[in-house]
Amino acid sequence: MHTPDPVTIVIFGASGDLTYRKLVPALHSLVCAGMLPANYVIVGAARSDLSNEAFRARMQEGVDRFGRLSGDDCQPWEEFSQRLYYQRISYDDADAYKTLAATLQKLEKKYNLPGNRLFYLSTPPSLYAPIVETLGAVGLANSEAGFTRVVIEKPFGSDLQSARDLNRRIHQVFQEEQIYRIDHYLGKETVQNIMVFRFANAIFEPVWNRRYIDHVQISVLEDVDVGRRGGYYDRAGVLRDMFQNHLMQLVTLTAMEPPTAWDATLLRDEKVKVLRAIQPPTGAAVRTNTVRAQYRSADGSGPTYRKEPGVDPDSETPTYAALELYVNNWRWQGVPFYLRSGKALAQKVTEVTIRFKDVPHMLFNEDNSVIEPNELSFCLQPDEGFHLSFQTKVPGAGMRTESVDMTFHFAPTFGAKALPQAYERLLLDALLGDASLFSRADEIEHSWRIIDAIQQGWEQGNGPPLSFYEPGSWGPALADTLLAASGRAWSQRCLDD
Ligand code: BG6
Repeated sequence: MHTPDPVTIVIFGASGDLTYRKLVPALHSLVCAGMLPANYVIVGAARSDLSNEAFRARMQEGVDRFGRLSGDDCQPWEEFSQRLYYQRISYDDADAYKTLAATLQKLEKKYNLPGNRLFYLSTPPSLYAPIVETLGAVGLANSEAGFTRVVIEKPFGSDLQSARDLNRRIHQVFQEEQIYRIDHYLGKETVQNIMVFRFANAIFEPVWNRRYIDHVQISVLEDVDVGRRGGYYDRAGVLRDMFQNHLMQLVTLTAMEPPTAWDATLLRDEKVKVLRAIQPPTGAAVRTNTVRAQYRSADGSGPTYRKEPGVDPDSETPTYAALELYVNNWRWQGVPFYLRSGKALAQKVTEVTIRFKDVPHMLFNEDNSVIEPNELSFCLQPDEGFHLSFQTKVPGAGMRTESVDMTFHFAPTFGAKALPQAYERLLLDALLGDASLFSRADEIEHSWRIIDAIQQGWEQGNGPPLSFYEPGSWGPALADTLLAASGRAWSQRCLDD
């Protein structure tokens, strides 16, 4: 592993939650792990009026609370915090960016930095394009001395049209190679491990296709409700908030062809091919192949979405959805991909499960008891690992079989602190100039095409009626029916006992 070149990091939206909970704790852990260059400066910029000291104190609290590595694992806080600065900025004022430019130059001189710059946009999404345009206008989009890169948080657009517009406006200032669109699921170790599992082991790829796989399931279940994010969420809903980005990423990594090298262009080419092959349900299929639901507490003892702050009391916005999708290519023709995600459910669990087909001819279980087909589950969080189910002989007379589980979990093997947080990996890669784990412009747009089609189907009244589920449950009964219709059921492999 080589460390990135000396760099100046500018975080827009530095007084917000993401900077406090994720970005600065991640940068701090990278320093602790010796993965940042010895020479760097981090400048937080936001509208709030804060001194350097006040900003440092808040960041210290964030690092203590949320950092993976801190305390004894790290160098003294003072060494890190001396390189943390804060600059107040009014986002629509070009002069404020000129002041920022002067500050950057001053700091780069003071620390003898070469002028490599990473701008991180962690602001409300409506500011992404204006910030990028002003960076361009005041000459901050290209440094003569080193690289200039821009990292853009999600959501990237709210539909295909707005994503296209945003891409177009950003491309007027930055080259695609300078742009790093974040999907923090790609920063998760276990999500990357789907690729390692598939392409670094010879035994799975030969069966990774329609001949041997019955169906694929992707579940991203959350126990949290919408909390204080009702205003945003009610306009977005679960399809835009979770499916367009995180679930589609999991589909592409599971379904893509092996790229010929670990290379950002080749990898993303393969992912885009998968997205292009997905034909979203239209017409009657919107009703049969999709489910949408909202959490509602029947007796008022739990949360009800329509009563959350910022949510329309008559809201039709789904907090849960389940979809049956098809990837129309040679590898996957006819294999259903079942996707589900929702809030206020019984447990947080993210799982990708590959269900293999039945054996072609049955020798055992003369009593006609069912033999469970093999199942491979990637447990992506919270207890990261794998499960592979297979049949074994029940000891004793006869030839009865039973399904047992072969498991591997990361924590016991690599240690509880071994898995870096997603933002550590993504910040490091952006600093190293590796865009493999970031979304390319066309990838985002193809994904929106699929989500828009379903969303439109629902809005035009072709979808199933909105159903309701109890908070703390596993979601609406219709999501079970979606699979039960073909004799299938959602996997429970990665759940706590
Ligand atoms: C975010 C969504 O992108 O992902 C949130 O906006 C969601 O609604 C979060 O809670 C889930 O992320 P994680 O890493 O906790 O699975």
